[in-house]
Amino acid sequence: MSDPAKEQTILVREARPADVEAIADIGRRSFTWAFGHLYQEAGLARYLEATYAVGKIAGSLSKPANLYLVAEVEGAVRGFLKLKVAQPGAAWQVQKLYIDPDLIQRGLGGQLMRAGEARMLEGGAGSAWLVVYTGNARAIRFYTDLGYEVTGPVFHDFEELRVEFKRMERRYGPAPTARP
Ligand SMILES: CC(C)(COP(=O)(O)OP(=O)(O)OC[C@H]1O[C@@H](n2cnc3c(N)ncnc32)[C@H](O)[C@@H]1OP(=O)(O)O)[C@@H](O)C(=O)NCCC(=O)NCCS
Repeated sequence: MSDPAKEQTILVREARPADVEAIADIGRRSFTWAFGHLYQEAGLARYLEATYAVGKIAGSLSKPANLYLVAEVEGAVRGFLKLKVAQPGAAWQVQKLYIDPDLIQRGLGGQLMRAGEARMLEGGAGSAWLVVYTGNARAIRFYTDLGYEVTGPVFHDFEELRVEFKRMERRYGPAPTARP
């Protein structure tokens, strides 16, 4: 059962350029919290610098193919979701979902995913897919509860590591038919 003392209002909205530092900070801290133990220190530092440099996030945010949503608690950004936008009927990718480690299991991830799903349905997505690290039982359960199913293994190289992931997918139905 949830603890009412921990209930806080969560606001989900599209990210703005002013959010890039918060997104970079949460990405670094949440990734380290979840996956840091898999890396050597130098390899982790290189990965974080390559992926979460503020300039890199700013560039990524400005691309029309990327949709970033953020979750705010008490006026501060504490989690983000990055979607890869696709044409109507095609598959959107749930590419990144990171919550501030201090606010895990308070509903931020679920609210971001529900808002993301609403955006995907508005955009006519045929399905949504993602890859999740095989050892990330928390996230696999989280996505399974949201209706995602495992469709196969995927392998990625990160620094010195070859890592096995699961590909997961959620189908939304047939592609919309063309209007007469
Ligand atoms: C996976 C992740 C995104 C989930 O986000 P989250 O904000 O913790 O998710 P939620 O709080 O919405 O839901 C998680 C659980 O908390 C429960 N919960 C939600 N609100 C709650 C509340 N107010 N009080 C208590 N529990 C609550 C949910 O029922 C859910 O239960 P479950 O673990 O039994 O499925 C998050 O753990 C995370 O950022 N992990 C590190 C990065 C990562 O692994 N990202 C995914 C890479 S693919």
